[in-house]
Amino acid sequence: MKDLNGRNIEYLRLSVTDLCNYRCTYCMGEDGVAKLGHSDILSIEALAEIGRAAVACGIKKIRLTGGEPLVRKGVVSLCRMLKSIPGLAELAMTTNGSLLPEYAFALKEAGLDRLNISIDTLDETKFTELTRRGNLRDALDGLAAAKAAGFTNIKINTVLIGGFNLDEIPKLIALTRDEPVSVRFIELMPIGECAGWPKNRFVSADAVLGACPALVPEKTEGVAELYRVPGHIGTVGLIRPLSHSFCGDCNRIRVTTDGKLKPCLHSPLEIDLNGLTGAALISAIKKGIFYKPERHHLNEDGQSASLRGMHRIGG
Ligand code: 5AD
Ligand code: SF4
Repeated sequence: MKDLNGRNIEYLRLSVTDLCNYRCTYCMGEDGVAKLGHSDILSIEALAEIGRAAVACGIKKIRLTGGEPLVRKGVVSLCRMLKSIPGLAELAMTTNGSLLPEYAFALKEAGLDRLNISIDTLDETKFTELTRRGNLRDALDGLAAAKAAGFTNIKINTVLIGGFNLDEIPKLIALTRDEPVSVRFIELMPIGECAGWPKNRFVSADAVLGACPALVPEKTEGVAELYRVPGHIGTVGLIRPLSHSFCGDCNRIRVTTDGKLKPCLHSPLEIDLNGLTGAALISAIKKGIFYKPERHHLNEDGQSASLRGMHRIGG
């Protein structure tokens, strides 16, 4: 359905947990997150019900996010439940990949259509430094497992961090040479844990074009500008929440693990879906879609107005 500003809202990002087995420095503190009580967390059945109600409101694509979605028990059955909703065109997941060696086949079998895997650096030492407890090997094994399970069109998400991974842009782009993957560079947003980081950590995605002049623009795909190095099989995407505002084309809403509908990532506006079912749930979602804020104010204020960090929203 359309919102107040005429945007067609078709995409739901559904966070299934705010917990994660990593502690990326820009996302979480050293100690992780205070565990929400059992009763605050949506059950798998409640998540599926929200999915069904959202599709009844015109949602066509659902992405499962976290925290790390694969640490949530029951996520494979949730995929199966969501995939059986008539009218849902695509079911996707964003993951850090570390648990894919265990889950990739089951997810494919449950009907998950597509995977985005977050890999911010290809250097083992830097990977462990950034994630505090992660291991590059696991993420790469996860990527291999996803391919082996038959996932196609895999996207690799890399958050650009000034002074950390800009020197690796060519190496990351090289992944597209022989593989049909899309490597997407995302501008770091000043939200949650990294909100107070020094300005030089936040860099424009133009850094990618500067580091790889061979890139040729192809098209825009949702929020990503797609480029390709001539001759490469895969593509390179730029996602610029900071330097180019795409609020005017934003087609998404979010639901947090504790059942709050967030019509805009950077707005404090939240609508409580907890405990709602049937017609009441559908009507609450419709209200959230309709009143989706027109745009964010990151550039003016330099900081997100969201009340939550990314692990509490799902990216
Ligand atoms: N800015 C941009 N991207 C972020 N992510 C997490 N925090 C931020 C941030 N502050 C990304 C993760 C992952 C996805 C879930 O969101 O790296 O790719
Ligand atoms: Fe976990 Fe993703 Fe946050 Fe890293 S960015 S701590 S992988 S949720």
